Amino acid sequence: MALRHGAGSPRCFLPGDAACKFFLLIRMEIIRTVADLDARLSAARAEGRSIGLVPTMGALHQGHISLVDRARRENDVVVVSVFVNPTQFNNPADLATYPRTEEADAALLEAAGVDYAFMPSVSEMYPRPDTRVFDLGDVAKVMEGAMRPGHFNGVAQVVSKLFAMTRPTRAYFGEKDFQQIAVIRRMADLEGFDIEIVDCPICRAADGLALSSRNVRLTPAQRVVAPNIHRILLESLDWAKSMSVAQVKARVIDAIDSYPDMSTEYYEIVNSLTLQPIRRWDDVLSTPGARPVGCVTVYLGDVRLIDNIKY
Ligand code: PAF
Repeated sequence: MALRHGAGSPRCFLPGDAACKFFLLIRMEIIRTVADLDARLSAARAEGRSIGLVPTMGALHQGHISLVDRARRENDVVVVSVFVNPTQFNNPADLATYPRTEEADAALLEAAGVDYAFMPSVSEMYPRPDTRVFDLGDVAKVMEGAMRPGHFNGVAQVVSKLFAMTRPTRAYFGEKDFQQIAVIRRMADLEGFDIEIVDCPICRAADGLALSSRNVRLTPAQRVVAPNIHRILLESLDWAKSMSVAQVKARVIDAIDSYPDMSTEYYEIVNSLTLQPIRRWDDVLSTPGARPVGCVTVYLGDVRLIDNIKY
């Protein structure tokens, strides 16, 4: 039986330790086909082991690893999918330039104690065109949904496939893509997936920039300017104490656009659960558990960055 880092398996911290050497021999497995994934996970399920899935598009960074770490703590088996999903790109240039770093990704995942890295080809994921159209409702109509037609339908297509292939106990998503999590919850409800969707906090560089695979495309000069997005959002928490929603929105957009290379595509302050724009701060009170969230998309040169802040 292949031993893996699972519940009860000691994690290695002492390189000289005999048990540690033994466990270092246990390698992560890279899986390319749905059949192989199913075989490994069926065995795990038959043993009653919980499965944590971290869906990614690769070009992994510490933000992804924080999801993996959480999945590792909460599940017996951890699967990370690395797949640049063509159906969620509405802009062919964006798909073509999306960073692909498979070897480095595999090394990071192995070091993080992942059991299976699922790295399928496009034809393995889409043996035939996926023509499904999901009724994702209002959460998918605003912000990213309005700016990137078809994007969320593509996300729903690939994540529903990954859920069906993996049948995880839990699936992990980062809050940087705040709206995406609401869309995935909606898709999971529609499709009847009994999977716990776990949202994880945004990981930031020391200067505040939200970690993103797209950050590698920033020039050194743009990388210096980029943290101002988060700085301005943080400052807006103060502005919100005395200003209306409309005033805060306008001031955030002005502040970001005052940097020559930065241009705000949208800044919306929305209800965290319905994702609908609010007009007054207390609009969220009619939705139990909701709060105002500011979601921004900024072009820095031709690099599209997103971030958000909870008021
Ligand atoms: O957030 C992402 O990286 C992608 O949208 C996801 C969820 C992996 C689906 O391709």
